[in-house]
Amino acid sequence: LGAKTVDIHSLYKDLDCFTHDPGFVATASCKSKITYIDGDKGILLYRGYPIEQLAEKCEFTEVAYLLMHGELPNENQLLKFNLEVSDKAIIHESLRKFFDGFHYDAHPMAMLVGVVGSLSAFYHSELNNKDPAQRFISATRMIGKMPTIAAASYRHSVGRPFVYPRMDLGYCENFMNMMFSRSSQNYIDQDHYIDQDFVKALNLLFILHADHEQNASTSTVRLAGSTGANPYACVAAGIAALWGPAHGGANEAVLNMLAEIGTAENVPKYIAKAKDPNDPFRLMGFGHRVYKNFDPRATIIRKTCYEVLKKTQTDDPLFELALAVEEHALKDEYFIEKKLYPNVDFYSGVIYKALNIPVDMFTVMFAIARTAGWVSHWLEMMEDPNKLISRPRQLYVGPAQRDYIPINTR
Ligand code: ACO
Repeated sequence: LGAKTVDIHSLYKDLDCFTHDPGFVATASCKSKITYIDGDKGILLYRGYPIEQLAEKCEFTEVAYLLMHGELPNENQLLKFNLEVSDKAIIHESLRKFFDGFHYDAHPMAMLVGVVGSLSAFYHSELNNKDPAQRFISATRMIGKMPTIAAASYRHSVGRPFVYPRMDLGYCENFMNMMFSRSSQNYIDQDHYIDQDFVKALNLLFILHADHEQNASTSTVRLAGSTGANPYACVAAGIAALWGPAHGGANEAVLNMLAEIGTAENVPKYIAKAKDPNDPFRLMGFGHRVYKNFDPRATIIRKTCYEVLKKTQTDDPLFELALAVEEHALKDEYFIEKKLYPNVDFYSGVIYKALNIPVDMFTVMFAIARTAGWVSHWLEMMEDPNKLISRPRQLYVGPAQRDYIPINTR
């Protein structure tokens, strides 16, 4: 799609030198057919399909299938895939007991990293990665189990009994049931069904977060996978990379910022702080490293955000505050000039809050969605017969060679 590339390796190998590009700003770590981003034009394509079309028409598992297999499933293929995913949603009883070992106030992401990594102790036959069909089973298993492990992490953190996955519910409905069954009636509509508007909102959020090419967590999964490590260990590494506030933690940061601003009259003061070059404060949920005109995911999600807020008829002042921040920033010359628009995480945090998802579960929600991308990149990498172990060079800046000094003379 028109990207200009230079094969640095063949250019520099005879010169015995290399490039220093710590942020991978100008270095592609791999070739991929999965996701395309044009940050200037605000384009995001999964396997060539615009995110706007997928978000409007698909269910999350359909998008997961597309990312994994490269093509949209037909009806039979989707039915079979959905059955496989729900069939794999149950976790081994011994694995369930792992949660008992965690302190009651453990962060759900901490439990997620540990429990997902330990899946490798349960599926020994899948660990050699040699059989392509088996690799797809491992990838499907990961997509199936992630909501169960995520919900179990939450239930443990609030001291509630685990809820088993149900085969008769769709992916998002099943997750909401495992999260909130018997502990919150807010997700149930007046006919005692899981509210389909909430399920729709969750489905949309999962689709928008399913993949974003070589972001930090996906690159981590690829890096771990390049050594031949088993898929569950690779995904656990991805979860660890996602946890940081500079990556998956941004939606949580938006909610913390709103709590700090407090009330709508304080918004102009905080906008002024964000513009002050001597103040480190930034408006969380605004700006993006890649999207310099608009984040196409934010455009899609904004409408859903308003719909969910209207539906919940929440009187939480936080939501009014979020809308006040958005309104002020969108009119402000500084934000217009620097092309700082609300990104996907400005709205996703607000929607998750309205859906009663606790703030420390926000990054876990991101992890459930991104699992589809992680396993797809792992599959793509494993299929590459010329794959290399990812081993970046470094620019050594330590001391030159020196002699050992005996301890009594130091
Ligand atoms: N609030 C106020 N000013 C900002 C903001 C912001 N949110 N973002 C950028 N700027 C200003 C910077 O101060 C800088 O000003 P200067 O030119 O006077 O020095 C200019 O805009 C460019 O900023 P950079 O940091 O160089 O832009 P970059 O593209 O590297 O950063 C980033 C993008 C990290 C997302 C940044 O906009 C930011 O920190 N945003 C807030 C955090 C956030 O929302 N992160 C989530 C990103 S989306 C995601 O990860 C899914």
